[in-house]
Amino acid sequence: MAATEASRRSTGRIVRRELRAAPDRVDLGGRTVQAWAFDGTVPGPEIRVRPGDELRLRLSNGLPDPTTVHWHGLALRNDMDGVPGVTMDPVPGGASFEYAFIGPHSGTYWYHPHVGVQLDKGLQGALIVEDPDERGAYDEDVVLLLDDWTDGLGEAPTEVLARLGAEGMDMGAMDMAGLPSDEQPLGSDTGEVSYPAHLVNGRLPESPQTVRTSPGQRVRFRVINAGSDTAYRFAIGGHRLSVTHSDGFGVWPVEVDTLILGMGERYDVVVTVGDGAFPIVASPEGKSDPGGFAVLRSGSGATPRPGTSPVELRGQLLTYADLRPTGEVALPARRLDRELDMLLEMVDEGRRWYINGAAYEDTEPLLIRAGERVRVVMRNETMMFHPMHVHGHTFALADEAGPGARKDTVNVLPKQTLAVELEADNPGDWLVHCHNAYHGELGMMTRMSYPGLANSSPGVPGDPCALGRSAATGADAGGLTSLRSNPGCSPSRFAS
Ligand code: C2O
Ligand code: CU
Repeated sequence: MAATEASRRSTGRIVRRELRAAPDRVDLGGRTVQAWAFDGTVPGPEIRVRPGDELRLRLSNGLPDPTTVHWHGLALRNDMDGVPGVTMDPVPGGASFEYAFIGPHSGTYWYHPHVGVQLDKGLQGALIVEDPDERGAYDEDVVLLLDDWTDGLGEAPTEVLARLGAEGMDMGAMDMAGLPSDEQPLGSDTGEVSYPAHLVNGRLPESPQTVRTSPGQRVRFRVINAGSDTAYRFAIGGHRLSVTHSDGFGVWPVEVDTLILGMGERYDVVVTVGDGAFPIVASPEGKSDPGGFAVLRSGSGATPRPGTSPVELRGQLLTYADLRPTGEVALPARRLDRELDMLLEMVDEGRRWYINGAAYEDTEPLLIRAGERVRVVMRNETMMFHPMHVHGHTFALADEAGPGARKDTVNVLPKQTLAVELEADNPGDWLVHCHNAYHGELGMMTRMSYPGLANSSPGVPGDPCALGRSAATGADAGGLTSLRSNPGCSPSRFAS
């Protein structure tokens, strides 16, 4: 781990921040609610660094419960990943912890606790790693953080979790659940929770944020789905979206009218602003809740009203097949060293969600070795989509044409089998999980581990170099030989 960190390109610049998690009254725009927040605001402060900068951030915990911060999407050093019981001990109430890590790659990321359903209580913010070389491509840079909100307006997230754990899925909805279609690209059952409100940058639709600019400006919107149980269909009235990045990594720009973000996903889009006032909408996909709303204003004109449904929402929708990685981020095609299967299942009528036959506490880690090309094949047996997220790596969508767009969170549709490929280049013990906060808490998490690490799980059996099975596409003997001859097989290499 130390060696991997030392190999990360460093600017030598240190960015120091403080972040305090505490219960607070927060103003959602017209309604003040009791919530948990970072630095008293929802979302928490926007953190910006440059690639190679070291972020030194002191988290102080003013919450009644232990907490952590996880840096979603960053391929950072494992011991800073913020996963309690895996990479660190949770920070008790009243205590503090200093995170220190290099942000290795530019892009749109975000941060949130990795304890229980704290994520659904308002603890979330944007982490932007700015690429100074991209500046010419746009004039303004605006983060839009989308979130489903219930705390203080409806059930508390802990109550939602207890209810789902006790009652499971709504059986009526489940019997009717339909497979993905043009009308319902994620299938008909997209979430368990109907939320009293959906926020854009912490604001209710009745009191929206207004993004002010002038006609002709090219605005880069960094759209983040920080929701816990809601996919959003995003559009800006009167504008096409030029999609330039998926989960922080570049794609060849593709123009669409609308796109869907699963929980944890991000897209960067550039729009050339027209003249007037336009609705920015985040429509909860497959839910009838009132949508998230903001306003883009570049001139005079009546302010659009919340609840307006611009035609773009029903226009051309981005698909994963539209995304092609730019040259510098494309994963070169390479022989596979290992294939891992992940079976996604609903158990006990939705009271539990499993990966490979077990809930998180009972899970067997997926084992990989440094230097390998790994394919992860996710098979969704359920009638819901799961936004599956891998920590510490940005995988490539795998298709017939070879490795595709880079992402760290991918929507696996009902009954779909979807494969991703990654380079095992960041030794550690990494969580892999559904970013539906409730599915995750009800079991749908596992770990992907490089054995031989100080902090990897105990009980990794036998010779670590002979673990797992070789990739289906590689000759068995060849796969094992390549493992044995891989210097990464020496556990001592990882001892830090
Ligand atoms: Cu947003 Cu385990 O992560
Ligand atoms: Cu899920």
